[in-house]
Amino acid sequence: MACPRPRVRDYVHMTDLLYVDGGNPLRGEITVRGAKNFVSKAMVAALLGETPSELRNVPQIRDVAVVSGLLRLHGVSVDLDDEAGTLRLDPTDVESAHVADIDAHAGSSRIPILFCGPLLHRLGEAFIPDLGGCRIGDRPINYHLDILRQFGAVVDKTHNGIHIRAPHRLQGTKIALPYPSVGATEQLLLTAVRAEGITELSNAAIEPEIMDLINVLQKMGAIISVATDRVIRIEGVDRLVGFQHTALSDRIEAASWAAAALATGGDVYVRGATQPEMTTFLNTFRKVGGEFTIDDEGIRFFHPGGDLNSIQLETDVHPGFMTDWQQPLVVALTQARGLSIVHETVYENRFGFVDALRGMGATIQVYKECLGGRPCRFGQRNFYHSAVISGPTPLSAADIEVPDLRGGFSHLIAALAAKGQSAVRGISLIDRGYEHFTEKLEALGAQFSREVDVRR
Ligand code: EPU
Repeated sequence: MACPRPRVRDYVHMTDLLYVDGGNPLRGEITVRGAKNFVSKAMVAALLGETPSELRNVPQIRDVAVVSGLLRLHGVSVDLDDEAGTLRLDPTDVESAHVADIDAHAGSSRIPILFCGPLLHRLGEAFIPDLGGCRIGDRPINYHLDILRQFGAVVDKTHNGIHIRAPHRLQGTKIALPYPSVGATEQLLLTAVRAEGITELSNAAIEPEIMDLINVLQKMGAIISVATDRVIRIEGVDRLVGFQHTALSDRIEAASWAAAALATGGDVYVRGATQPEMTTFLNTFRKVGGEFTIDDEGIRFFHPGGDLNSIQLETDVHPGFMTDWQQPLVVALTQARGLSIVHETVYENRFGFVDALRGMGATIQVYKECLGGRPCRFGQRNFYHSAVISGPTPLSAADIEVPDLRGGFSHLIAALAAKGQSAVRGISLIDRGYEHFTEKLEALGAQFSREVDVRR
C-alpha cells in the first residue's frame, strides 16, 4: 500500500513508480486544500509587504517547496507549519539572489518571472533564468517582459539569464493584453500596485485565483478595481504591509478527483471543493452523465450507473472550461457513448498525453483544425489542438511515462480505470500539484504500490 506521508523537502528523493491494479471504482472521501496556482502567487506577493504575511490552507506540494526555496534565496524568512498548512513569510531582509542558484532551484517552474515586479520595487533590479518551454506548449514570457518594459523597466538578455532594472520608480501605464494570460495579469498586478500613478489593464484574465490574489493585495493596502469587461484598474500606493489570508480551494485538483470518480464508475466526496469556482466544470460533468451533490463542506461526485454521454467541449479562459480540467475529463470521455469533440484553445500542445491512452485501448484522433467550436488562434498553425474521442472503449493496463502534471494525473486515472496492473513511471511530477495523492488514493480504496523505478 501507500508510503508514509513524506515531508515536502523529501519529495525530490521520493520513489518514482506506481504499480496500479485498476478496474475498481474509487469510493470514499478526500480533502483538497489551497489552490496551487494561487498559493505560489500569494507567496510572491508577500515580497511587497513591509511586514510579515501569513498564508493559510497551504497544501504540501512541491511547487510550494520550490517557491519557499526561491523566497529564501532572496532573503525572505519562510516558516511552514506543514500539518496546519500555515506559512509565515517575513520579507524584511530582501536581497538579490544569484541567477545560477535561482535556475538550479526553480527547475521547470515559471514562478521566477513573477518575482520581477516586487524585486524591482524592493531592490531596483531582478535576475531571472531564461525560462524554457514545457511539454504543453512553448509557454513564452514575451507578455511579461513587455509589461515590465511598459512600466519603465530595462530588460537585458544575457548569456546566463535575464537582467531587469528599474532606473527610476516604475510608472503606471495602460496596457492591453493580446490574450487574457493568467501569468501576465498577475505580473501586471504585482508590479502596478507599487508603481507611481494609475495602471489600466484591458483583456485581463479574471480567473478565481487572480481574484484571490487581488483580495490579498487589497489586504496589503493596494487599490484595485475590476470592471465587468476584463478591465483592471490599479492606483499605485507608496507602501504595502503584510497580509493574513486563507487560500481559495484548488478547483483543478477537485475536478481531477471528480473525473477519476467518473472514469472508474466510483463515488468520491471532495471535502473543500467549492461550487462558485467550479460552475462550468459542474455543468459539463452533468452533461457527460456524472452526478454531484453540493453541501457546505464540499462536493460529492459520482457515476450514477448506465451510459455516459459524449459531449462537445472547448477549453477557454475563465469563465470558460479550464484547460487544466481537460486532460482528466478526456479519460472519462473514453467511457462515454458516441463521439466527443474537445477543442483546446489555451495551449497549442496539450493532447500529447492521449498517445498513452490510445496505447491502453482508447480511440482518440487529434486534429490540427479547430473542431466543434469557434476558430481559435491555433487554427491555421499546424498544432494538433482538437481531439475526437470515440467511446466507450475498455481500457487495458499499460506501462506509462508521465508527461506533465495534469497529463500525468490523467494517466493515473486511466490506470485506475483499466483492468490489470499498470506501471505509471515518473509520478514524482504529480507531487508538484497534488497533495499526498498516494494517501488519497489509499483512502479511496485504490490498489497500488509506490516503488523505485530502477530504469530511470
Ligand atoms: N502566453 C504567451 N506569452 C506570455 C504568456 C503566455 O504567449 O508571455 C500564452 C501561453 O503560451 C498560453 C496562453 O498564453 O498559450 C495562456 O497562458 P497563461 O499565461 O494564461 O498561463 P500561465 O500563467 O503560464 C497558469 C497556470 C497553468 C494554467 C494557465 C491557464 C500557474 C502556475 N499556471 O499558467 O496551470 O494552465 O494559467 O489557466 O498558475 C497547471 O496547473 O498544470 C498549469 C499548467
